[in-house]
Amino acid sequence: MYNEIDLDKIDIHAKPPIEEPDRQYYYMAKCREWVREFERKNSRRPCFCTQTFGCQMNARDSEKLGGILTLAGFAETESEQADLVIYNTCTVRENANNRVYGRLGYLHSLKKKRPHMRIALCGCMMQEPAVVEKLKQSYRFVNLVFGTHNLYQFAELLARSFETDKMVVAVWDQAEQIVEELPAERKFSFKSGVNVMFGCNNFCSYCIVPYVRGREKSREPKEILREIEQLVSDGVVEIMLLGQNVNSYGKTLNPPVTFAQLLQEVEKIEGLRRIRFMTSHPKDLSDELIEVMAHSKKICRHLHLPLQSGSSRILEKMNRRYDKEAYLALVERIRKAMPELALTTDMIVGFPGETEEDFLETMDVVKKVGFDSAFTFIYSRRSGTPAAEMEGQVPQEVVKERFDRLLTQVQQIAAQKAQRLVGSVQEVLVESVNEQDASLVTGKTEHNFTVHLPGTAELVGQLVDVRLDECRGFYYYGSIV
Ligand code: SAH
Ligand code: SF4
Ligand code: F3S
Repeated sequence: MYNEIDLDKIDIHAKPPIEEPDRQYYYMAKCREWVREFERKNSRRPCFCTQTFGCQMNARDSEKLGGILTLAGFAETESEQADLVIYNTCTVRENANNRVYGRLGYLHSLKKKRPHMRIALCGCMMQEPAVVEKLKQSYRFVNLVFGTHNLYQFAELLARSFETDKMVVAVWDQAEQIVEELPAERKFSFKSGVNVMFGCNNFCSYCIVPYVRGREKSREPKEILREIEQLVSDGVVEIMLLGQNVNSYGKTLNPPVTFAQLLQEVEKIEGLRRIRFMTSHPKDLSDELIEVMAHSKKICRHLHLPLQSGSSRILEKMNRRYDKEAYLALVERIRKAMPELALTTDMIVGFPGETEEDFLETMDVVKKVGFDSAFTFIYSRRSGTPAAEMEGQVPQEVVKERFDRLLTQVQQIAAQKAQRLVGSVQEVLVESVNEQDASLVTGKTEHNFTVHLPGTAELVGQLVDVRLDECRGFYYYGSIV
């Protein structure tokens, strides 16, 4: 596998190969030279720190960056007092952007004390020309800026930035190819995300993702299966298939493949114990998928199904292409096939033109469905999206008041629903030693509920049967049976 490639066998004085991923391995070897030079001068390896600001797809991208750097000889650290700091940014809401600018101020102060430090920025924010302009004007201390479409070129860009003190900027406005077979350094040894598709074609009117992640592109099933098989042989027992709208997976492949068909192939992989996926768009969730889930032994009984709003009028303005009734009918079909399934969602409060009646429709769906948990967001105006230009932007104090009401309702219902599992025995994947109490470990049920139980570090990465003894609102205390 490429993970085991010997960089020392690459001749870095020859011309760089044109083909990918060979070209990137050539540049990893070049970066390795830089690392060795650093070691000679400083008697230690250079270390890098990656901070991820975005969703699971960004987190997976960060693992790819980490894989490249590890192969090149860097050591990883959690501290931003590193030799190379990478911010993998998100721009889905304005506060995500603001956090990055805030942290950059802090990085600048660190760099003043340690001028050799190098700073790289990547991720969705970098796909916005106005952001790159602002960085060029006011954040000259940043060494490297690259986007989401050319992430695979990281080694090449880093090698280029090592040769200059000027800011290197390389952002593409669309993806040219999907480059497979690059290394990745996983955060967890026992679970991993796996991209099944990139980009999004849905253009929900509030959302910036289609503009910064580009058009939908599915990976070939055989590439996905090969990656999962490799992960499983490395000890991974749980995978999360990732895409902005996994239910439209495979439509543009030749021949076309459905997401349900892909899941059936993944299910066959021996040694793999759990399959999760994210995110499902309600408009594309097929009966075939419900059927496959219901019959599967490995697909977890959890579905994240973003509602966004319960008002059909607002859903239309959001360009979601389903209405309140269709969402409720879909939930009914899913629950009929899998009564024990946990349902979670995302909702936006304060979309332009949202009235009190519209908001009450959202509250109504929350009550009718009874979500096991929900992410609630205050609408954030993203320039360039259709909603940003819509009339009737809702005043902040009104939004805040609705947001608080929604959150209270969501939490009350979730706490009630969580009681239903008390006393039952559930399979738990132990993920870590508890941070507050070292006599406990913490894991997840297939419904994605958190469970704390007595145990030691040896249990981490194992699936164990646990009786849920007590529910504390959003998490459980349990004991191994
Ligand atoms: N592709 C996924 C979600 C990606 S973004 C889906 O369609 O469900 C994650 C969540 O961020 C969205 O579900 C939405 O609730 C929220 N979000 C996206 N744009 C937003 C905006 N402009 N303001 C507030 N929340 C937003
Ligand atoms: Fe954004 Fe809609 Fe695409 Fe999700 S489906 S990423 S909310 S445009
Ligand atoms: Fe954010 Fe980009 Fe994900 S905008 S939510 S990191 S796709």
